[in-house]
Amino acid sequence: MSLNADNITMAFGALVALRDITLNLDQGEILGLIGPNGAGKTTVVNIISGFQRMSSGAVSVDGRPLDGLSPQARSRNGVVRTFQGARIFSSMTVLENAKVGALAQGASDREAEDRAHAALSRLGLRDLAGLPASRLTYGQERELDLVRALCTGPRYLLLDEPAAGMNESETASLKKAVRAIRDDFGIGVMLIEHDMSLVMSLCDRVQVLVKGETLTVGRPAEVQRNKDVLASYLGSAGGVVA
Ligand SMILES: Nc1ncnc2c1ncn2[C@@H]1O[C@H](COP(=O)(O)OP(=O)(O)OP(=O)(O)O)[C@@H](O)[C@H]1O
Ligand SMILES: [Mg+2]
Repeated sequence: MSLNADNITMAFGALVALRDITLNLDQGEILGLIGPNGAGKTTVVNIISGFQRMSSGAVSVDGRPLDGLSPQARSRNGVVRTFQGARIFSSMTVLENAKVGALAQGASDREAEDRAHAALSRLGLRDLAGLPASRLTYGQERELDLVRALCTGPRYLLLDEPAAGMNESETASLKKAVRAIRDDFGIGVMLIEHDMSLVMSLCDRVQVLVKGETLTVGRPAEVQRNKDVLASYLGSAGGVVA
C-alpha cells in the first residue's frame, strides 16, 4: 500500500518548479522531504493533495489514480495535508478545532467528536479539549493542527514544516506525536522539515530536493554521507553532520 507520485513536472510560466519528481510513500513509514528554500517541497504537497494541477506526471494511491480529483475527494481517499504556517481558530475550543477537518469531510457531528477525542487523547491533549484554543502554547497549537488532520482519517499524511518555530521541548513532543501517528495508526507520513536533527532521527527515508529535482533518496545515514547533499544543502544548514 503506497502513495505514488510519478514523474511530476510543474511549471509556473517560465519557472520550472519541479522537474520529473518521483516519490513513494509507504503506509507506516516516515519519509522526510528536505531541501533549501524554494526547492519545491510545498509544491509537491500542493500537487499530491490536489491544491495545484501539475503540468505533467501522475499521482496514485494504492494503485488508484488521483488525477483530476478535488482536495476533498483526495482526503476521502486517505490523502491529507497540513499547511505551512497554518493557524488554528483561536475563538473556538480545542475540541471544536479538532472536529473541523472531519466535519468538512462530511462526518456526522458525533463521528467527528469521537475521532477528535481519540486523536486528542493519543497526542496527550485530552485534558485541554474544553479550553478556548487561544489558551494553548505555540507547541500545543501546532499539535492541534496535527490532531485536526488526524481526525479526517488519513492513510497518508503530508506535513508541511510542522515543527517550524518550535523550541527544543516542543520539537521533542512533536517528534513523539509523529512517531505515534506512524506506529499506532500505521499512517504513512511525509515530513517537510528544515531541522536536520529532527529529520535524521525521525525519518525512515529521506528524499532531497534541490531546485525542483531529486538529488538523492535513501536512509538518513546514507543521505547524511552523500557528498552532493553536503555540498548543496547540509553543509549550509550547519553542524548536523556527524
Ligand atoms: N503559485 C506560484 N506561482 C509562481 N511560482 C511559484 C508558485 N508557488 C511556488 N512557486 C515557486 O516555485 C518554487 C518552489 O516553491 P515551493 O514553495 O514549493 O518551495 P519550498 O521548497 O516549499 O520552499 P520553503 O522551504 O521556503 O517553504 C519557488 O521558486 C517558488 O517561488
Ligand atoms: Mg514550503
